[in-house]
Amino acid sequence: MTMNLFVYKTYEELSRHAADQVIQSVVDKPEAVLCMATGSTPILTYSYVSAFAKQNRVDFSRVHFISLDEWVGVPRTNAGSCYAFLHASLFAPLVIRNDHIHFFNTEADDLVFECKRIDAKIIELGGIDFMLLGVGMNGHIGFNEPGVSRKLNAHVIELDEVTCTVGQKYFSEETKLKNGITLGLAQIMKSRKILLLATGSDKQDIIRKTLEGKISNDVPASFIRKHPNGYVLLDLSAAGELTIGL
Ligand code: GLP
Repeated sequence: MTMNLFVYKTYEELSRHAADQVIQSVVDKPEAVLCMATGSTPILTYSYVSAFAKQNRVDFSRVHFISLDEWVGVPRTNAGSCYAFLHASLFAPLVIRNDHIHFFNTEADDLVFECKRIDAKIIELGGIDFMLLGVGMNGHIGFNEPGVSRKLNAHVIELDEVTCTVGQKYFSEETKLKNGITLGLAQIMKSRKILLLATGSDKQDIIRKTLEGKISNDVPASFIRKHPNGYVLLDLSAAGELTIGL
């Protein structure tokens, strides 16, 4: 198995390398289509991206952002929504035009139509160039929960119990989480480059399953190993006792 695996000593070091890759993708292709995960893991990466872009005048004005996932029933005005997170960490600091942000609107009446709208937008923009992913405690990527079909494009999904429990950390008060809307594995696998980040000892077990277990939809993140341009970036504590690539 060829695996592009990189292990860094610290979260800071990992975040610097991930940020370099994001910047490089835009330098190489100023009209790049990016898709960025939310969550605790990429916070520092995004703050490095924003700071570096500002300091070095990296031009993000032609970049488009595609939504990876969103909590259904959580409005954008809620600071715990994926939209609010990305707005604060990337869209506002990089001054991204609204018409270059293509995000699931979970307040729309017809969420199936919302999925089709985003599917069509990805095609219209010529596909996703660069995707930055985190991994859930249950192995999800985006909201592709264990057992999901790898053939799906954007879809609404009933969230796993683990996701609903862990997800409370993003909200200032207890929030009812039941469904999610997400790009599907088919679209994730078609993106031209993927970076999957994991940090901290809490992720050790799921990272071992992702990288050393069977490639299967029981652990959706394991499909990264089949992506021809997929990179896994870990810090030492997430790498734990991995035996491969070290
Ligand atoms: C969240 C998001 C994912 C994210 C993952 C890991 O619920 N839906 O897109 O990558 O779970 O989150 P964290 O980085 O906080 O561990």
